[in-house]
Amino acid sequence: MLLDDALRGVPLVAAAGGAVVDVGSGGGTPGIPLAASLPDRQVTLLEAERRKCRFLERWTEELPNLHVVWGRAEEQPLEQYGVALAKALAEPVVAAEWCLPLVASGGRVVLWVGPSAEPERVARAAERVGGELAESPPGFLVLAKTAPTPAGFPRRPGIARKRPLA
Ligand SMILES: C[S@@+](CC[C@H](N)C(=O)[O-])C[C@H]1O[C@@H](n2cnc3c(N)ncnc32)[C@H](O)[C@@H]1O
Repeated sequence: MLLDDALRGVPLVAAAGGAVVDVGSGGGTPGIPLAASLPDRQVTLLEAERRKCRFLERWTEELPNLHVVWGRAEEQPLEQYGVALAKALAEPVVAAEWCLPLVASGGRVVLWVGPSAEPERVARAAERVGGELAESPPGFLVLAKTAPTPAGFPRRPGIARKRPLA
């Protein structure tokens, strides 16, 4: 079930090029199943909690295209990836703000979302961070990175939740 949910993202990741980052990977989903399904793509699991990173690192022995980075999305080098993924990271407006600076222009952000997600709000937030809402299948919001990350982003840790962009 969890695996199926992660693998629903395969066509969306396959449609966009470049290295992939799973932001707030937690126990490793969706990044680990996607790394196993797409062995030609480099997949980084970015996770803020060190304890979780230690667990995730065990998987790098099995999957040579898998990497683990301990850190927060807001504190990473900008625009290093082609695709950023987030599942249950934060509310979609916040996840969009954290993920868009990580991808280069032309890249994609793929958010796994529930039925309560508000696409218009996410679209408004994305526009503030160089992105726009793209065609998205049910259960996802896909954002296209259409412009470089504007000055002032990423905002300091904690600000995105405290003062959402939309
Ligand atoms: C609810 S878990 C979801 C884990 C996994 N993606 C899933 O779907 O099961 C959210 C994870 O995001 C991590 N996290 C929260 N804020 C983060 C941030 N700003 N940067 C990186 N990781 C973050 C948390 O430590 C936690 O492991």
